[in-house]
Amino acid sequence: MEILAICGSVRAGSFNAMVVRTLPLLAPAGMKIVAGPSIESFPLYNADLQTNGIPNAVVQLGEAIRRADGVIIATPEYNYSVPGILKNAIDWISRLPDQPLKNKPIALQSASQGVLGGARAQYHLRQILVFVEGLVLNKPEVFISGVQNKADVSYGELTDEPTRDLIKQQLQTFETFVRGIKRNAIE
Ligand code: FNR
Repeated sequence: MEILAICGSVRAGSFNAMVVRTLPLLAPAGMKIVAGPSIESFPLYNADLQTNGIPNAVVQLGEAIRRADGVIIATPEYNYSVPGILKNAIDWISRLPDQPLKNKPIALQSASQGVLGGARAQYHLRQILVFVEGLVLNKPEVFISGVQNKADVSYGELTDEPTRDLIKQQLQTFETFVRGIKRNAIE
């Protein structure tokens, strides 16, 4: 099973990117997690640009989503919501023909330096994913609060054991969820 991880932050020292880098170490044996192509180069969505041709970077991410058995989105919270760069990426992806997020199993994670761990952004993200008909795992939910104290920055890895255990549980549940969806799609 191959899972594509998309990060809602593109800054070099991103804690969410660090969570994404840690995921392969926490995944069950049958799950391979690969980081998706960066969303940094996507232009701001404009229907006129779409008319002239969807940017190649958007097409590439769409193809990667299509190929993957499931998607994980790890994102910060900006002003109580989803960072614009992630919303913009989803807006672009939603305009691709044969929209790739439709019926795609998706798990959500958020890490923030605040006390709620990006919960508000994650719930807005769930709402956005309703429109694109993603199949979002309900629980376990992964909200990583105070992430700056749960990471070894020099190591570039999430080190807090309870948080790592929670992510392991989520990934195991997600594996079962993805298999169930694939089985139902075949039958
Ligand atoms: C933030 N941050 C933040 N944190 C939070 O918990 N709730 C919020 O609403 C916000 N709002 C917010 C707005 C903007 C514009 C910035 C730049 C930051 C702080 C945020 O959690 C922190 O910067 C994270 O470290 C960002 O994630 P990455 O880039 O480390 O993955």
